[in-house]
Amino acid sequence: MAQPLFSLDGQSLITPQSVSNNFLSPGQDHQTGLLRTAEAEFAIVISLAMQRFAAGKDLPEAVRWLIGQLHDVRQKCGAAVWQKLIPLIQAHPSAKILQQCPFTRWSFEKPRGYSGDASLIDFIYGHSAVAEEVARSTPLGLDIFEYTINAPGPVAVRERRDILTRYVDDTAARTGSDTEVLAIAAGHLREAEASTALAEGRLKRWVALDQDPQSIGSISSQFHGTRVEPIDGSVRGLLARKHQIGTFDLIYAAGLYDYLTDKVAIRLTQICMEMLKPGGVFLFANFSDEMADDGYMESYMNWELLQRSEADMWRIANASAAENTVDKRVWFGTNRNIIYSTIRKLP
Ligand SMILES: C[S@@+](CC[C@H](N)C(=O)[O-])C[C@H]1O[C@@H](n2cnc3c(N)ncnc32)[C@H](O)[C@@H]1O
Repeated sequence: MAQPLFSLDGQSLITPQSVSNNFLSPGQDHQTGLLRTAEAEFAIVISLAMQRFAAGKDLPEAVRWLIGQLHDVRQKCGAAVWQKLIPLIQAHPSAKILQQCPFTRWSFEKPRGYSGDASLIDFIYGHSAVAEEVARSTPLGLDIFEYTINAPGPVAVRERRDILTRYVDDTAARTGSDTEVLAIAAGHLREAEASTALAEGRLKRWVALDQDPQSIGSISSQFHGTRVEPIDGSVRGLLARKHQIGTFDLIYAAGLYDYLTDKVAIRLTQICMEMLKPGGVFLFANFSDEMADDGYMESYMNWELLQRSEADMWRIANASAAENTVDKRVWFGTNRNIIYSTIRKLP
């Protein structure tokens, strides 16, 4: 797994440039040949894709094909060459076409100033909060959108949201009316919309921590009067033990570890284990190194993630707490684009 130069926290916002800077070095002239080959491969792929776009027939299928091809080009050319190819793809006229897709455009333009904000994930959830933005799209953009939000990564993200809801509801069923839950990097806390435990008032509190004041504002207004407690806070604050928020039966982080270096991920996991009650569970999710949409996301969407393998997840889980105090698991979601680790603190 490539390690970026940054650590995600409330102050240092993530831009793909910080990832690519890590790979670009002037002494890599020998890669010129590889870059030329990758450029040629991209030229063939995009020319075929543009012909299919121009024909205007079955555009979602044409986008599916393009996304698969970009994954293959990325795999073949290696990380350093791929980083050099990204700006060339972004400068290609095809970018103007693909960025008519509202999801692709939002990711590329980054209205919140960083990658992977909660509104971007709302496109994947098909949430009404982004309906106006979707409605402003061209017919071509909507055709592209039809595939991009049904690509394997977004399918896995919707399953992730449902898994989170299930974990909260199962925890409430297990621990009763004292159930305390913490969501780190909560975004808009969409998983709470389907929670029966929340709807039936069976939770003591569901703390939702995020560094983006707009996400916190959205949670505050939508879940006002429920057991949801939004907190304007950051990973940095948690690492510094700045947030005195007590202990929990369930703590989870989805859409966060994908941006954290191993060092920060391990430290955060250790802190979360300390915040668990005996018998409590910590869950963290990460895009897996088997994900299929990476080439498209990193180029046309300008959205870079740290993908993790099973071994990467185990390395973090194994460093979380003393071996005989926890029960650890690493498992894949249905289409293997997202990988999970659950760590239970033994009673
Ligand atoms: C990809 S969204 C995930 C939202 C939600 N967990 C979900 O699964 O839909 C990432 C969220 O992480 C938040 N975030 C990013 N860096 C953070 C940090 N250092 N501390 C707290 N939250 C952070 C962002 O503000 C954003 O809302």
